[in-house]
Amino acid sequence: MSKHQQVLITGGQGQLATDLVQVFNGSDTVALSHQQLDITQQSDVEAALRHYKPDVVINAAAFTDVDKCEAHPVQARLVNSLGPENLVAAAHKIGARVLQVSTDYVFDGMLERPYIETDDTNPQSIYGQTKLQGEQAMRDCDLIVRTSWLCGSHGSNILKTIVALAKTDQPMRFVNDQTGHPSFTQDIAVTIKQLVEIEAQGTFHVTNQGPVNWYEFAYSILEMMGRPTDQLTAITTDQLDPPRPAIRPTNSVLNNQALPTVGLTPPPHFRDTLPLLVKELCD
Ligand SMILES: NC(=O)c1ccc[n+]([C@@H]2O[C@H](COP(=O)([O-])OP(=O)(O)OC[C@H]3O[C@@H](n4cnc5c(N)ncnc54)[C@H](OP(=O)(O)O)[C@@H]3O)[C@@H](O)[C@H]2O)c1
Repeated sequence: MSKHQQVLITGGQGQLATDLVQVFNGSDTVALSHQQLDITQQSDVEAALRHYKPDVVINAAAFTDVDKCEAHPVQARLVNSLGPENLVAAAHKIGARVLQVSTDYVFDGMLERPYIETDDTNPQSIYGQTKLQGEQAMRDCDLIVRTSWLCGSHGSNILKTIVALAKTDQPMRFVNDQTGHPSFTQDIAVTIKQLVEIEAQGTFHVTNQGPVNWYEFAYSILEMMGRPTDQLTAITTDQLDPPRPAIRPTNSVLNNQALPTVGLTPPPHFRDTLPLLVKELCD
């Protein structure tokens, strides 16, 4: 680290936060669960930051159920937009900065190339809109890390679902018309730590590499597990029954263009990390 930094992580029991705690791994880091700190409560946020006096607040708390956000837009705004506003206001009072974790869903997915950090945003869902408002709460000294298709060994995620279904040879249908970069929390956490260490500012796309659609991703997992791939069927988003309430971007691929400009290497190809995770989940 360029200097000794106290780090406070919100949403401390989430899947990314759990790996952040492991990667930061030290007495300089405190993680507060939802129960310990509700980021929608301005006075609680102020009290926590005054108490722990962090140099950096990593906001890993969010209302991440994309479909539920459509049904609960007020709650989505409270957590995904007001929460970051509260954190920025409190952080700046004590001279701290905020790292806001954000998402590919701030884009509409219509671009025919990977999205770079400076591309225009145009969210199509309540989740994406409220996460974009969370980004807009940041100030010049703060940091926005957009990631996509997060999964890891903690919490519930699509990787774990596929592994569980594959173990019992259950039929699976996955769309082949939504493409993105799968991102593993253990790899994303490492790059987040590096960004904190160099006191980076601005917006960074941080994902594993290798564009893939959901069908291909599921296929890779079955192959790595040595399970029959004929239990897997490719469908289009239009064939989802029932249709999902929230619109997903067709193209979710985030080009990690800004990382090399600050001397950092983007996280590895997803095929480098996936076998390790699959093995861990199968053992
Ligand atoms: N999951 C993805 O595919 C994905 C993709 C791109 C970007 N992201 C972003 O990456 C970040 C981390 O996502 P994740 O997958 O690790 O999420 P996660 O596992 O759902 O964790 C989010 C955590 O936030 C907590 N939380 C919810 N409301 C809160 C509040 N008002 N105050 C404090 N904590 C609260 C949740 O606690 P409870 O469970 O107790 O409510 C949960 O522990 C989020 O910013 C998300 O938007 C995620």
